[in-house]
Amino acid sequence: MSASSGFEFPGLETERTVLRILTLDDAEAVRVHFSDPAVTRFMDIEPCESIEEAREIIQFHLDDRGCRWGVFLRSDPEDLIGTCGFHAWYPDQNPQESSLGYDLARSHWGLGFMQEVVREMLLFAFDPGGMNLRRIVVDVEPENERSIRLLERLGFKRVKDRFDEGMAWFVLRRRHDPTGSV
Ligand SMILES: CC(C)(COP(=O)(O)OP(=O)(O)OC[C@H]1O[C@@H](n2cnc3c(N)ncnc32)[C@H](O)[C@@H]1OP(=O)(O)O)[C@@H](O)C(=O)NCCC(=O)NCCS
Repeated sequence: MSASSGFEFPGLETERTVLRILTLDDAEAVRVHFSDPAVTRFMDIEPCESIEEAREIIQFHLDDRGCRWGVFLRSDPEDLIGTCGFHAWYPDQNPQESSLGYDLARSHWGLGFMQEVVREMLLFAFDPGGMNLRRIVVDVEPENERSIRLLERLGFKRVKDRFDEGMAWFVLRRRHDPTGSV
């Protein structure tokens, strides 16, 4: 259960990965994952130095308006290769819009993992039986080229009118169909 008005986020699966909501039991894996400065460079956190910091990250997401999944390999379900989730979702005020975030261990960059994962997140987000969103808005640091390539590949469009605080803003609307089945 998340803080999003009791909405229950399920686990998700893709061809190569399993997404499971992170719990405090994952703190050590999360610590290792976020100890890499290349992973945290464009995120709102400093590289993790202790398991306590990892617990705080997980608890933040458990309390947040959204969710955070751990991305695990199907071939090795104990192996956390990234995290992803929705945030800034206020079903009681603005149920149609949310933001999403993601990060992948450097060892798994350049292999299409996050594209695969975010496609599944989008299916769930736009599904009337899922979050039933109409719009997803993502802000990215303009230097984060990998993240921008990922969003553009998935059909997100850069918008100028929300440009704020030096960030690049991307929007994907439900009518767009990045997977052929949304
Ligand atoms: C953003 C981030 C997840 C992108 O990772 P990524 O590996 O570039 O993205 P994907 O997993 O979708 O992989 C796409 C790459 O794999 C390649 N690829 C290889 N095999 C592939 C396959 N089977 N299917 C699809 N793409 C494949 C693609 O060509 C692409 O490479 P390119 O961009 O050099 O052309 C990663 O850089 C990251 O975690 N950064 C740190 C955290 C972060 O910045 N998060 C975002 C904050 S906004």
